[in-house]
Amino acid sequence: MRIQIINGPNLNLLGIREPEIYGKKGFDDYLHRLRDLYPNCRIDYFQSNSEGAIIDKIQEVGFDRDGIILNAGAYAHTSIAILDAIRSISTPVVEVHISNVPRREEFRHHSMISTGCIGIILGFGLDSYRLAVEALLNIK
Ligand code: DQA
Repeated sequence: MRIQIINGPNLNLLGIREPEIYGKKGFDDYLHRLRDLYPNCRIDYFQSNSEGAIIDKIQEVGFDRDGIILNAGAYAHTSIAILDAIRSISTPVVEVHISNVPRREEFRHHSMISTGCIGIILGFGLDSYRLAVEALLNIK
């Protein structure tokens, strides 16, 4: 089982950025623990602040991974191009958000990418990524 995590803009600042919303833990530490939890699963990680780089990564991995966990950050609310990329590949994509976006500002309530994804996990902090791994393991 090989899973790709893709994090979008500003998620490189987890632990520093708005800790009251996103928590105080950096993603690197969390990723170590996630990999320890699933020793039989290869979990690759990519982060970019750039929409085009995210699309390139989706295209690159979208035919040979078993699943993609995508937190597109703010691009989730705006990017038809990322939706089109998700629809262009064969690997199932789980949309993830750390925060409970429906409880936040109205402009975060709509996701442009959800219709391309097999499901959405949001609001459980960094544990949302683990729940997404579980979801992917269970559809296999
Ligand atoms: C986010 C929610 C988005 O609205 C926001 O722009 C982010 C992070 C989340 O994980 O909660 O950058 O995707």
